[in-house]
Amino acid sequence: MSNQTVPAAEIKDINLKAEGKQRIEWAERDMPVLKQIRERFRKEQPFKGLRVSCCAHITTETANLALALQAGGADTVMIASNPLSTQDDVAAALVGEYGIPTYAIKGEDIPTYNRHIQVALDHKPHLIMDDGSDLVATLIRDRKDQVKEVIGSTEETTTGITRLRAMEKDGQLKFPAISVNDAQTKHMFDNRYGTGQSTLDGIIRATNRLIAGRNVVVLGYGWCGKGCAMRAKGLGANVIVTEIDPIKAIEAVMDGFRVMPIAEAASLGDLFITVTGNRHAIDGPHFENMRDGAIICNSGHFDIELNLVALEKQATSRRPIRGYMDEFVLKNGNHVYVLAEGRLVNLSCAEGHPASVMDMSFANQALAMEYLVKNKGKLEPQIHTLPEAVDQEIATLKLHSLGVKIDKLTPEMTEYMNSWDSGT
Ligand code: NAD
Ligand code: ADE
Repeated sequence: MSNQTVPAAEIKDINLKAEGKQRIEWAERDMPVLKQIRERFRKEQPFKGLRVSCCAHITTETANLALALQAGGADTVMIASNPLSTQDDVAAALVGEYGIPTYAIKGEDIPTYNRHIQVALDHKPHLIMDDGSDLVATLIRDRKDQVKEVIGSTEETTTGITRLRAMEKDGQLKFPAISVNDAQTKHMFDNRYGTGQSTLDGIIRATNRLIAGRNVVVLGYGWCGKGCAMRAKGLGANVIVTEIDPIKAIEAVMDGFRVMPIAEAASLGDLFITVTGNRHAIDGPHFENMRDGAIICNSGHFDIELNLVALEKQATSRRPIRGYMDEFVLKNGNHVYVLAEGRLVNLSCAEGHPASVMDMSFANQALAMEYLVKNKGKLEPQIHTLPEAVDQEIATLKLHSLGVKIDKLTPEMTEYMNSWDSGT
């Protein structure tokens, strides 16, 4: 920085700010689409005079999104969307180098996490950016008086959308919410290639285990599951998939994976990865049937996918064995190893998705915030997706930045695609 004043904050150590800034700049190099949006925001000032509360994983990529909002004139407060995902040097840089109030400490306890949510709401936001819907749910439950000030919110992840749908169904959603996750340039790339790479990265950093030749059980074959299964296979694993949706299960079969219920897979797996967005995908009896030495982790949004309360009850002992890895000894004498207390392994044990993929996710976030402002008062209080044209624009900019050219429809092709009378 910095001739700005250091804002109010709760971070681990302000002395980490220079390191954080360097890493934020490294991420920026692989976020060309967001960078273009940031420069346009700087000229057009779409958020001038608006307060923004942003609940996100505090990473180098998120910092670049915060800088885009700041360039656009937003008065932004950042808080963590998960107790274990904060990169402390990034939080320090946001505060000390860029003057953005940030409340996030890696390893913060749940009361601290909840207190930070209150700080974000005390900011009296006009716009909310959420990842998992903790901020919006708390506002709707506890701050009814503030709801009318909110222009709208954006939601990053599948689980957050599931919660927003429940709020909408209960008639509780009183402002428009943009489902960023539903953009094709988000879930097809972030959830699949981002989660695929960063989950395996987190597992390898935490365990230093060889993946080749191991039985890797992937629970859930949605966008994240497909990515994890694909990358585990690429590292030489024998991948087993579990599902509850018959269509996803056939897809996994035709992609070449063994599919079976978790009750069967439990005794076969060397490594388990949950990405279901659902509670207790791995439950008490499954732990009992696991092989000695099985490693278990979650890359879904919340830590509810593993029934760790049941595991705790079944265990005769528990001890930390490496960073972000706990060993449980079961009554049958077997050992099982849980990574990152069941919190998302890619952000707890590694750095989350690489910048190139977050470039598209966060381009969607930035444009969704602008869309809310431009359409203030015109959108129904329900879940919205961004117009298809925004997806196309982000994909076009990304291809351009990668130096990839594609074909254009000729007039003859367009005419054919719009006709019905030229068949056999
Ligand atoms: P999705 O809806 O595409 O896929 C989830 C799949 O899990 C579905 O196919 C569903 O049928 C299946 N499923 C549900 N309950 C199950 C059960 N008990 N056993 C087996 N399968 C079950 O969702 P997604 O986009 O893949 O997201 C999955 C989770 O990952 C969500 O919590 C999402 O918020 C989170 N997510 C995490 C990251 C990350 O960085 N770690 C990134 C994106 C999304
Ligand atoms: N979600 C997954 N990876 C992420 C990242 N690198 N930054 C912010 N949110 C993320």
